[in-house]
Amino acid sequence: MPLVSMRQLLDEAAKGGYGVGAFNVNDMEQIQAIMMAAKETKSPVIVQASRGARQFAEDLYLFRLIQAAAELNPEIPIAMHQDHGNSFETCKSAIELGYTSVMMDGSLKEDGKTPSTFEENVEVTRKVVEYAHERGVTVEGEIGVLGGVEDGHGAGGTGLEHITDPDQAVEFAERTGVDALAIAIGTSHGAYKFNKKPDGSVLKMDVLIAIHKRLPHTHLVMHGSSSVPKELQDIVNQYGGNLKPTWGVPVEEIQLGIRNGVRKINVDTDNRLAITGAIRKVFAETPEKFDPRDYLKPAREAMKKVVALRMTQFGQAGHAGDYKPMAITEIAKGYANGSLDTRPSMAAR
Ligand code: G3H
Ligand code: 13P
Ligand code: ZN
Repeated sequence: MPLVSMRQLLDEAAKGGYGVGAFNVNDMEQIQAIMMAAKETKSPVIVQASRGARQFAEDLYLFRLIQAAAELNPEIPIAMHQDHGNSFETCKSAIELGYTSVMMDGSLKEDGKTPSTFEENVEVTRKVVEYAHERGVTVEGEIGVLGGVEDGHGAGGTGLEHITDPDQAVEFAERTGVDALAIAIGTSHGAYKFNKKPDGSVLKMDVLIAIHKRLPHTHLVMHGSSSVPKELQDIVNQYGGNLKPTWGVPVEEIQLGIRNGVRKINVDTDNRLAITGAIRKVFAETPEKFDPRDYLKPAREAMKKVVALRMTQFGQAGHAGDYKPMAITEIAKGYANGSLDTRPSMAAR
């Protein structure tokens, strides 16, 4: 099956009332882990690559691996998404390569660190939407800024400094025409999100619910949504790692989000922890081993387990066969004739 439009995946998720995990990949084993989990749980899936991942894997290697995943798993709808695009050019190059979805993260300037102005964000995101929609490609925008820094990307801070303003979210959706909107509700990228189980003072689910009420037709996206389970932290630390105590986003909060318009949930850190724990265990228990397959296989299996669990918890499990993927050219027609327009003023027709 060719790669599928992320918009179609999310529209179907909205109809079915479930969320879809978007899992970051950098190499073959991570892609295989996701596909093994998708196959086992019969899930549609979003695979995403950051700029760092595209650089690490030399772009074409990664894209060809995704194409192989699609060819080998024709029963699974797969959308390929650019995570945190920092400029029009980054998004354009992903689209040229064949990605079916891009995130234009205009909440930060092109350096991926400095918060941008609202007007700058609107301008660059609108330009990406125009280019992408003509080609049937989905666009995710971001309003508000997440905390934390990953691979040099991110504004830093706690995640509470730039919470999304619901009025701005509505104006942003209207002026850009994005298909999906990432909002900042107190989460951060990476392992260190909260120093205790988060409550409403640090994880602003009320803001999310308020935004969904105002923008019922825009798919909401939760970034920084790893749950950072203690079991995974413990395995890393048991075998020589040095993670300090930390808390992620509880799955039940994500599920509350899914009941309130969240359709895409970004998870990277949980998989990184699972992989690292599994590799450390092999190294610690069998230091005589040196065949990479001896540690990459358990690492892949550990990531598969996390992904399969999230697919079940987010509700996408069992939905792979619900619909027939549309050609990207058909999706482009839907954007051109206005039938896929979800801007608040259009949706109110
Ligand atoms: O947004 C953050 C993702 O976890 C990707 O991280 O930029 O280190 O590849 P990265
Ligand atoms: P985590 O660091 O919580 O896994 O978030 C990943 C993410 O938001 C990727 O865009
Ligand atoms: Zn993110």
